[in-house]
Amino acid sequence: MKVTVVGAGAVGASCAEYIAIKNFASEVVLVDIKEGFAEGKAMDLMQTASLNGFDTKITGATNDYSKTAGSDIAVITSGIPRKPGMTREELIGINAGIVKSVSESLVKHSPDVILIVVSNPMDTMTYLAHKVTGLPKNRIIGMGGALDSARFKYRLAEALEAPISDVDGMVIGGHSDKGMVPLTRLATRNSVPASEFLSEERLDEVLQATKVGGATLTGLLGTSAWYAPGAAVSGLVQAIACDQKKIFPCSTLLDGEYGLSDLCIGVPVVLGRNGIEKIVEINLSDAEKAAMQASAEGVKATNALI
Ligand code: NAI
Repeated sequence: MKVTVVGAGAVGASCAEYIAIKNFASEVVLVDIKEGFAEGKAMDLMQTASLNGFDTKITGATNDYSKTAGSDIAVITSGIPRKPGMTREELIGINAGIVKSVSESLVKHSPDVILIVVSNPMDTMTYLAHKVTGLPKNRIIGMGGALDSARFKYRLAEALEAPISDVDGMVIGGHSDKGMVPLTRLATRNSVPASEFLSEERLDEVLQATKVGGATLTGLLGTSAWYAPGAAVSGLVQAIACDQKKIFPCSTLLDGEYGLSDLCIGVPVVLGRNGIEKIVEINLSDAEKAAMQASAEGVKATNALI
């Protein structure tokens, strides 16, 4: 199993590290445009192999896509991250050009690759990757919902004063502060609805804290987060590589599902060796349907900028 990660910055390197530590891939190739940067990150990570006990071979390349040839999965993290006060949508001017050229180069050298798009604004970048590569829709996956759901579970566990392993919850919709749709109605603590423990007001606080989860970290760090994004991407890569058939909310091209078409937006999907193997349609309440509709309008407005 060969995995390429484009962008050896904060998220790309974190993702490569989690993939290596989980020890399921034979090879990870890091690619960056900055001279020597990916090679340096790869060497540093390889020097953790004997310490962390993994056999994954990590190599780096400066913009040389011949080294990525034959990749089964490629993750696109190249592009600029947001600074405090910025929205993800404001990154589109620079990141659209980067995602376009990187997607084309990846597919040229690995025609059977499954792409995972991380660069923001992620739903629009996933849609752009479809437009430029023409890959079948099961092979282009946007990562946002897995991270937003992890942040939702963190906030739920905090409010419930429960261990995170007892808590479940999912965030669908667009990967933006306004567009996220945390499904508080379906959140549970050990199979019991979270609403049995928390007031409507407290659940709404959890929802609001989840929506600004990325912005809160950007305010604290001065740039966007990397540990949870890297871990979320590695979870998607592992589900595909190990054919796990796990369900994650991912951005995918919709064709009528959830009453939406011609956009990529986060919905639950089954991930296995063929990438997106099934889109799972859950029954939404009227309020959740309206939130999804509004979220889709936001994503489409950003798509109109590419
Ligand atoms: P970073 O600045 O640490 O790393 C980005 C890397 O991309 C840099 O090393 C840069 O040299 C490289 N790069 C730029 N243009 C390139 C090109 N044409 N080819 C190859 N490499 C290129 O940024 P960070 O924090 O890793 O974030 C990366 C992206 O991921 C941002 O757009 C950020 O907004 C997004 N992100 C998305 C998340 C999600 O849930 N979808 C979560 C966190 C970040």
